Amino acid sequence: MLTATIPDTEAHVHSTFASRYVRTPVPRFKMPDKSMPKDAAYQVIHDELMLDGNPRLNLASFVTTWMEPECDKLMMASINKNYVDMDEYPVTTELQNRCVNMISHLFHAPVGDEETAVGVGTVGSSEAIMLAGLAFKRKWQHKRKLEGKPYDNPNIVTGANVQVCWEKFARYFEVQLKEVKLQEGYYIMDPEKAVELVDENTICVAAILGSTLTGEFEDVKLLNDLLMKKNEQTGWDTPIHVDAASGGFIAPFLYPDLEWDFRLPLVKSINVSGHKYGLVYAGVGWVVWRDKEDLPDDLVFHINYLGSDQPTFTLNFSKGSSQIIAQYYQFLRLGFEGYKNIIENCMENTRVLKEGIEKTGRFDIVSKDVGVPLVAFTLKDSSKHTVFEISESLRRFGWILPAYTMPADAQHIAVLRAVIREDFSHGLAKRLVSHIEQVLKEMDSLPSRLSTIRAVADDGSGAKQHHKKSERETQEEIFRYWKRLVDRKRLGVC
Ligand SMILES: Cc1ncc(COP(=O)(O)O)c(C=O)c1O
Repeated sequence: MLTATIPDTEAHVHSTFASRYVRTPVPRFKMPDKSMPKDAAYQVIHDELMLDGNPRLNLASFVTTWMEPECDKLMMASINKNYVDMDEYPVTTELQNRCVNMISHLFHAPVGDEETAVGVGTVGSSEAIMLAGLAFKRKWQHKRKLEGKPYDNPNIVTGANVQVCWEKFARYFEVQLKEVKLQEGYYIMDPEKAVELVDENTICVAAILGSTLTGEFEDVKLLNDLLMKKNEQTGWDTPIHVDAASGGFIAPFLYPDLEWDFRLPLVKSINVSGHKYGLVYAGVGWVVWRDKEDLPDDLVFHINYLGSDQPTFTLNFSKGSSQIIAQYYQFLRLGFEGYKNIIENCMENTRVLKEGIEKTGRFDIVSKDVGVPLVAFTLKDSSKHTVFEISESLRRFGWILPAYTMPADAQHIAVLRAVIREDFSHGLAKRLVSHIEQVLKEMDSLPSRLSTIRAVADDGSGAKQHHKKSERETQEEIFRYWKRLVDRKRLGVC
């Protein structure tokens, strides 16, 4: 959000306990004229933050919400280090470089024993994707210039299920996004359709290892094989990027034989979120390239403060060091074995939750057993109540379980999604199922609000209709209406 605030007519913040120190209300939108004691400032802010959700019950997010106290200590100890000051903090830089190398090896980059891997730490997968996308765009432009061909109309091929950061990349860096549409029952990019969309202006095809919507892995191997054939036929050399934001720290531990990474020749770069299943708090991602050649040198700035050459390729300059240090802590502390144990445990809890949800008899599961540990499910019968109502009712127990509609062309399907992280236990899975059952029971005893909504949906904004809406269109309209209602309620409008 840019500057949206919680709707409130008050221009001041009133605090209960802080009134021991401050007697006058604090202005909400203007800097106070006077200072206040540190305990008062702490109390004012602490009291306001109480109304945030509980991160541990936030099943909407893949991002880590628990780390060991030893790592918290290391993070606090380095909170005052600016990562960019590489000459002052050479050890932190070294730890970043070690992480890049470990990740590259994990993803089977062809790095020789004497070589260092090519990659960089970022704020998250979004920044990593912007950098990878820029590298593809620049490389494609260089090649087109050399060939004397136009280089002003690049495009990128993805599934319609991509995370918003790909749409941002396309818009910010002026690349056309060509999306493969989804369909009911198939919620990831179809490699055949993706390859059909590839043309001479395609800078890369982006595949997702762990779709944000359903956790499902896209078939990168098939994409690679089909694209190799097309490249052979056309003389192009369209590459692949793998967005492994979530799956990059799942697949190597659970499915070591699955070929999705640099084992496939067309995969030139991969991003992964350190703050998702890399098990670090929010603020770290990674992008690694197959080879030095895949990262055009004119995008890289060289800093030699350290006496040796430190190439940098990032969108911003200053940032904290703590997350990088925390990532190194996790690699060192857990090793391959530790990550494998944690991810296996997440999978086991996913299974418990999935079976509990299936047992209610009211839902269809749309996530797959192979993928990111999450359960995505739809209501079998949405004629009386919707998943939006369930999501809303579960908030009462503290659960944050998002409901959303699928992208084009499956907008008439609405799902609930529970992401399973390390800190979600077997016991919590059982508790969540029992709360879902309770919500269903309560909903069954309430009159459906859908007949009213359906009437509104059928009628549109009161305008005369020229055609009778199909069941699918009405369903889409109902979901849109519900979503608007819930969003407005959350902002306190109704
Ligand atoms: C597939 C995928 N790509 C990219 C992102 C963006 O990641 P980040 O939040 O690390 O910027 C997400 C976030 O959920 C994602 O699921």
